[in-house]
Amino acid sequence: MSKSLIIAIDGPGGSGKSTVARSVARRLGFTYIDSGAMYRAVALWALRLGMDLDDLHRLEQLAREAHIELPGDRVVLNGEDVTAQIRDPQVSEAASRVAAQPAVRRALREEQRRIGAAGPSVMEGRDIGTVVFPDAQVKIFLDAQPEQRARRRASELGAPVDDVARDLETRDQRDRNRAEAPLTQAPDAEYLDTTHLTPAQAEEAVLKLVRERTSNGKDHK
Ligand code: DC
Repeated sequence: MSKSLIIAIDGPGGSGKSTVARSVARRLGFTYIDSGAMYRAVALWALRLGMDLDDLHRLEQLAREAHIELPGDRVVLNGEDVTAQIRDPQVSEAASRVAAQPAVRRALREEQRRIGAAGPSVMEGRDIGTVVFPDAQVKIFLDAQPEQRARRRASELGAPVDDVARDLETRDQRDRNRAEAPLTQAPDAEYLDTTHLTPAQAEEAVLKLVRERTSNGKDHK
């Protein structure tokens, strides 16, 4: 597995993962990898093809054939920039269903490991510290109170908080209760509650942890 320094950040939707992972990666000069965007890209493709999301064989095929690139903060699927499209609520729901399929996870996990092995990275998701990189040097489980997570998502999406809270709850339950790689805190991950933290405070807390778990936060290969 990877010899590069990996900072694994897992947690439920709206916990602040993307904001923190992105800013920490920028501060350290690491590659930022949003693994959820990969599940979203496969889900978008399946929806566009009008596929039955219970057709496991075809879903696996899509996950293997999807050409997903993550340049900077963008998401490119089969050569098309789908950064905005994958945030659609319909895609969020489909992504959570697609992500419950072991064969899809297997395909994307291989890709995530390949990207992570290419150089020091900050990878965020649900199973990065538990399954994708169980030997990651730094593992953080980000969390926040459900109301706060819903408020953050609602302001990102410009949607009513109640609707967002309900959708978030449904997906969280599915992500936490699925048989394959459920959302759970790795025993050696640091728990960080961001409910009352600003993004800058959360970033500082993560950077402090990185410094503690590595000699100087920069001893990567
Ligand atoms: O982080 P996100 O909301 O963009 O993730 C989209 C979906 O993909 C979400 O339902 C959880 C799932 N996911 C996963 O199962 N494993 C990951 N490593 C990342 C995301």
